[in-house]
Amino acid sequence: MNYQEALNKCKEWNQEHVLQYYEELNEKEKQELLAQIEETDFSVLNSLKNLENIAKKGVVSPLPSMQLSEIEPMKEHYETVGLEAIRQGKVGAVLLAGGMGTRLGSDAPKGVYNIGLTRDLYIFECLIHNMMDVVKSADAWIPLFVMTSDKNHDATVNFFAEHDYFGYNSEKVWFFKQEMAPASDYNGKIYMEAKNKMSTSPNGNGGWFISMARNGLLDVVHKRGIEWLNVFAVDNVLQKIADPLFVGAVIEKNVEVGEKVVRKVNPDEKLGVVCLEDGRPSIVEYYELTDKMRDERDENGDYAYNFGVILNYLFSVSALERIMSRKLALHVVEKKIPYLDKSGNPVKPEEPNGYKYEQLVLDMIHELDSCLSFEVVREHEFAPIKNKTGVDSVESARELLQKNGVAL
Ligand code: UTP
Repeated sequence: MNYQEALNKCKEWNQEHVLQYYEELNEKEKQELLAQIEETDFSVLNSLKNLENIAKKGVVSPLPSMQLSEIEPMKEHYETVGLEAIRQGKVGAVLLAGGMGTRLGSDAPKGVYNIGLTRDLYIFECLIHNMMDVVKSADAWIPLFVMTSDKNHDATVNFFAEHDYFGYNSEKVWFFKQEMAPASDYNGKIYMEAKNKMSTSPNGNGGWFISMARNGLLDVVHKRGIEWLNVFAVDNVLQKIADPLFVGAVIEKNVEVGEKVVRKVNPDEKLGVVCLEDGRPSIVEYYELTDKMRDERDENGDYAYNFGVILNYLFSVSALERIMSRKLALHVVEKKIPYLDKSGNPVKPEEPNGYKYEQLVLDMIHELDSCLSFEVVREHEFAPIKNKTGVDSVESARELLQKNGVAL
């Protein structure tokens, strides 16, 4: 794309300012900026005009979960089915590690955060350690796909290599990059990160399957006969990955997706809850939960929207392939975005100063026909690290790890 074409494209989207430093750039930098303008999908900015529609939900009703009391008598059976599927190579895992982890306040990938107290214990290490439990019981490696972004790819890949994959089989690990999206101020003007670079951020965790496809990894999935993909977040250090019990239940229930859920500690807890939306599986975000829904009870007198998702889903690959061309909603998320001030100096804001545009994995659930909501024991499987201190933090996760016998 030449300068004129870039200018035309920017004008079309009211973003001419991204070329304001063009004359100050050297030839290489000019080309970098033109290439970025060519690649960038400015249409994400349209979501700003559409905020109300994005938030609109259909008719929401409760989705019953498979609770611990129902799982217990089936435990052995499900585990046998799950282990068999893992042994046959039908189950892969996808680690979503493309996020920026801004709340944790470190520039490094979240997974390299050291949560040890008397020894080194990295977040990635905890996850691999949890996977190794299953590898040992199944006596089979689980293919692991790790999603990164432009911002943290090299640091992530190098970290795994430096630590010898924490004992995992490196031949069973694939890294792939997700797509990026421009980040803007509150008026939809894209920030500049440098004079030759628009501010971008990873485009959310909802594009993981498309990004796998773009990176040629569906060939690996097909060649290996992987039928199920267990997608999980980087920050829950207690979670079970490719958990045979969960895998077996999802297979036996013959659904297109399974979601691990925990019982909420109180009706106001900030967790997305499982539900039906217009009769199809869906998730209501905590901020979408009305007072009426929050207080609604089921026939047993329990809260009707009582089970929250923990970002651990088991998707059927064939179902994902069926829905992969569908467009997911874009969520406009307020975040801290580094930018250049009026004099061209870089600024790292302390408070949110604009929007990122993200697709979310939870929106994939609504595209599928059937879903098993599967309860897990919260104290054993849910220790998310979002913040340094307080709720869902390094501190709270440490406490939970120790309660589960992990030496820190
Ligand atoms: P979060 O929304 O908690 O992560 O994503 P974040 O964006 O990294 O954190 P903050 O809000 O800036 O503090 C949940 C999971 O989804 C992944 C994250 O890495 C985490 O595992 N994720 C998020 C991606 O892989 N890509 C994204 O674009 C966003």
